Amino acid sequence: MKVVVLASGRGSNLQSLIDEWQNGSLPIEFVGVGSDKVKAHALIRAENAGIVTRAFPRDNYQDREAQETDILNWLEELGVELLVLAGYMRVLSQEFIRKSDYPIINIHPSLLPAFPGLRAQKQAVDYGVKMSGCTVHFVDEGMDSGPIILQEPVPVYSEDNEQTLAQRILRVEHKIYPEAVRLIMNGKIKREGRKVIIQTDS
Ligand code: GRF
Repeated sequence: MKVVVLASGRGSNLQSLIDEWQNGSLPIEFVGVGSDKVKAHALIRAENAGIVTRAFPRDNYQDREAQETDILNWLEELGVELLVLAGYMRVLSQEFIRKSDYPIINIHPSLLPAFPGLRAQKQAVDYGVKMSGCTVHFVDEGMDSGPIILQEPVPVYSEDNEQTLAQRILRVEHKIYPEAVRLIMNGKIKREGRKVIIQTDS
């Protein structure tokens, strides 16, 4: 399965995928890593792993449509079969979603549908929830609203701040994102409307 990752920042989730790919537990074809930021650390991680990279800096384009057209063409050239968003900080347009005939997945640092959007960990701390977590979901035309593939809870302690909670959640993200990709790659996932059914081996 040909996988492309889009990332804007430090790329620790990308690294968790690279690590499992390199140790053989995620036998995907890692065909590319793209970013809207030329200096994204994610691009360096990909280069170190020998993966093709490409930047699509916002300033190079007149508007989002032009940037997305370039990304879509690149993805088509690569023959992408699964597009993985890993800290990609630009919302994909409805047009982009409609034009892509491959699944797109994202990871979000809360138990959706709670705390969608930016700074989900801060939202959780400010709200005072005792439990948050992370969610891998298919991307649809809304904001963090697509069908949920995997979720795992993470406790929130009274002394937590945004950073301490983010760190605790991140460790779990690094476990469930490769797991979700593995399930998709192995054809273990069936979609029934909003529901994602995971087929077990038993
Ligand atoms: C993660 O918390 C992820 O859930 C969110 O953005 C962050 C990306 O972190 N979508 P990294 O770049 O993968 O380290």
